[in-house]
Parts: sequence; C-alpha cells; structure tokens
Amino acid sequence: MTTSWVFGGSEGIGLAVARRLVERGDAVVVLSRSETKLAAVRAELDTVRTRAVDVTDLDAVSATVETLVGELGVPDLVVTTAGYARPGWLDEIPADDLRGMVDVNLLGTVHVARAVVPHLVDAGRGTLVVTSSLAGLAGVFGYTVYSATKFGVIGFAEALRREIAPSGVQVRVLCPPNTLTPGFATENLHKPAEVLAAEEKASTLTPEQVADDLLRALRRRRPHVVVPGRGNRVSAWAIRHLPALVDRALRRPG
Ligand SMILES: NC(=O)c1ccc[n+]([C@@H]2O[C@H](COP(=O)([O-])OP(=O)(O)OC[C@H]3O[C@@H](n4cnc5c(N)ncnc54)[C@H](OP(=O)(O)O)[C@@H]3O)[C@@H](O)[C@H]2O)c1
Repeated sequence: MTTSWVFGGSEGIGLAVARRLVERGDAVVVLSRSETKLAAVRAELDTVRTRAVDVTDLDAVSATVETLVGELGVPDLVVTTAGYARPGWLDEIPADDLRGMVDVNLLGTVHVARAVVPHLVDAGRGTLVVTSSLAGLAGVFGYTVYSATKFGVIGFAEALRREIAPSGVQVRVLCPPNTLTPGFATENLHKPAEVLAAEEKASTLTPEQVADDLLRALRRRRPHVVVPGRGNRVSAWAIRHLPALVDRALRRPG
C-alpha cells in the first residue's frame, strides 16, 4: 500500500489532496498545528492518522518524522502545503508577517524536506511535493514578501532536485492559482482594492481541482513544476516566454 503524508493537510488544498489520496487507497498521515482541525480530519476520514506539528520548528518536524518512519516506514509521497499569504503594500504588512511568511512558507518547506529527504534517499524512492504559487513564478504587486517566499520555494526545490538526482527521488513543486480555501478567505480580508480589482480577471479554482491536477501530474515524471488549470498553464508559459508583455500586464495601475 502507498503511504502518503500531507503537511498542512487539515484544511484547504492540503485537505483536498488528503481526501483524494484516501479515495485512491493510500495510507495517509495528515500533519498540521491545530489538534482541533486534526480531530475534524479524523472524524471525516476515519483511516487517516494525524500528528500535530508546526513546520517552523525544525526539531519538532525532525522528531515527528523519525517517529512516523519508525512506526509506519518510509513514505512513498510527502506533500507539504503549509503556508499563508498576508497581502498588503510593503510598508503596511505587519512586521510579524514579514518574518512569519518567511518562516512558514520558506523555512517550513526547508524543514520538512530536511527531515524527510534523507529517508527517501536511503530508500532510493519516493516523491516530495512542495507548494509555491503562481505568485512564485511572477512577482505580484501587493504580494512582495509572499512572492519572495514562493520564488524561494521554487529555487529550493530546483536545487534539491538536482542535488538528489542520483537517488531517483522526485521533487515536484505545486503552483496553485487563487483557490477557494479558508486561507484564501482570510487573505481576502487584507487585499488592497487595486489587488481585488486586478484579480477580477483571474480564474479561481476549487481545492479539489488543484488536488486532481496534482495527482494527475504525479502519475507522470514531468513537469517538475505543476500548475493547475489550463489557463494558468498558458499564463505560466507566457511568464517564461513573454516577460515584457507579462510585466506590463502585472503592473499596478497608475
Ligand atoms: N488558496 C490560494 O489561493 C493559494 C494560491 C497559491 C498558493 N497557495 C499556497 O497553497 C498552500 C495551501 O494554501 P491554502 O489556501 O490551502 O491554505 P489554508 O486553507 O490556510 O490551509 C493551510 C493548512 O496549513 C496548515 N498550516 C499552516 N501553518 C502551518 C504551520 N506553521 N505548520 C504546520 N501546518 C501549518 C493549516 O493547519 P493548522 O492551522 O492546523 O496548522 C492548514 O491545514 C499554501 O502554501 C499557500 O501559500 C494557496
């Protein structure tokens, strides 16, 4: 049986991924901070095991991973979606969130990888999925610090993929677009009006659509960077190949 762990799996995109993994018959472990949210996951998905852990705490992540490997063996798939966005103009983002986004989105991802990857490499198999964003492919106004953390996740994953290439372990990056989750609802409370206006043109996916596109992509060995939604894949292509056009389209209106 395939064993899959989902860090940040108690809500939103991570929970949708966990649900799909349970549906396909995986033995699933869901990890996040809140015991209350994890209890709700256990109530809904009765085969799922859960562990409370904060990805910003390297020692706690490492200890949790060691315990789980001892109990359940080396996982086949590890997905981390733990992360958040605090939009706002650069001079208005609270200082706690400047550090918070770096801690959760970037360092949290590094912590999960550092704890898990040596086990995957020793086993000579397995896949790690980390979560960036469309805002990790192109800088988005109103998301300066968030974009920085999500560009960081992509750079980290690319370097790690090359570093462990001989092992056969895969490293993939999920780049969701705007997705209707509890985190997105909270994020909306802080968006400047110009960001909300610009987003009216952007498509929004459900967490289930993101999870389905991720699992479909994982059935193949490529692409390394998974962009859910056809229109978003066109945008990702344009970001790479038409940078001047995209730069004009993404600027804050004067
Ligand atoms: N929704 C979007 O529009 C969108 C777009 C692009 C990228 N993304 C990215 O996709 C990922 C998931 O987003 P989402 O909208 O699904 O978020 P969400 O609804 O807020 O869910 C986040 C999940 O991560 C867990 N989590 C948060 N901080 C954690 C920490 N320090 N340690 C462990 N677990 C933690 C939360 O549970 P606890 O509170 O129990 O810890 C929850 O299960 C994030 O990385 C986000 O940046 C989202």
